[in-house]
Amino acid sequence: MADTTEALPFAAWMAGVQAEVEDALSDFLPAAHLVPTKLHEAMRYTVLGGGKRVRPLLVYASGALFGADSQALARAACALEMIHAYSLVHDDMPCMDNDELRRGKPTVHVAYDEATALLVGDALQAQAFEVLASNDTLPANRQVAMLRLLAEAAGSGGMCGGQAIDLDSVGIALSLEQLERMHQLKTGALLRASVLLGALCGKDLSATELEALKAYSKAVGLAFQVVDDILDATADSATLGKTAGKDAADNKPTYVSILGLEQSKELAQQLRRDAHDALAPFGEQALRLRELADLIVQRKA
Ligand code: IPE
Ligand code: IPE
Ligand code: MG
Ligand code: MG
Ligand code: MG
Repeated sequence: MADTTEALPFAAWMAGVQAEVEDALSDFLPAAHLVPTKLHEAMRYTVLGGGKRVRPLLVYASGALFGADSQALARAACALEMIHAYSLVHDDMPCMDNDELRRGKPTVHVAYDEATALLVGDALQAQAFEVLASNDTLPANRQVAMLRLLAEAAGSGGMCGGQAIDLDSVGIALSLEQLERMHQLKTGALLRASVLLGALCGKDLSATELEALKAYSKAVGLAFQVVDDILDATADSATLGKTAGKDAADNKPTYVSILGLEQSKELAQQLRRDAHDALAPFGEQALRLRELADLIVQRKA
């Protein structure tokens, strides 16, 4: 299991979790030689060898606070990453954002074809639930609670709902409240689920601990998409590994288009402070979650 001790520098801890998750994802995905080979190859092309793995990192960091079981953590982290990867494949399709670059490679509908991209998303979503449900180290009622939490975060009350609002908002000057709601759904929901699922892999949480984790994930969930909007407007495609400047070109309402760049950067910093404040009940123990809040706000890609 990746070393979650606080003695490790953040970069080394992060690299350890990323390597462990990469191996686990590879094991959980169907082998490329299995029929239907094109679909299985495309699933592996989508998920392996790219991405920052922020959601798995949140799962591990949160789990470490509650003495989480290692098998359960790996499965929760991989389930989250599979749902996230599926959301990216569909987000990039011509009927959505119509993007040709993702994680530094041609998007799935470009490298393969649209039907394959659709099926990769469908299959990854199902695979995520299979991976989570196949854990055998936690009590059944805990497992059901975790499956339900992931389903709620991925569905029309979470990521898919946020994506629907995003598509319906092209060319519309949303209010700040509407913008925040859209971002909390399309991106915040899966980040929140990452933090909560990590915690559910361990011992029971007190009400105070649960509230603290919810407040933390609300702040980092929104911060993540605020920074995504900032990077879309300020970074280049080579750095991002995806097409830069796309939000303005597509007339999408974003924090940058509604608040402006400087205020968006200030908001991201405020959310970082909110995230740190929320972790107060955990004291020093929450080091990794604090470091991840910093990473989410200070990242360059
Ligand atoms: C990009 O997510 C899409 C959003 C939800 C903003 P990430 O920035 O986590 O993408 P990867 O996983 O590192 O490629
Ligand atoms: C996507 O938001 C959020 C998802 C649920 C995938 P964006 O459309 O801004 O993500 P990028 O910028 O293409 O990664
Ligand atoms: Mg999009
Ligand atoms: Mg997009
Ligand atoms: Mg974006």
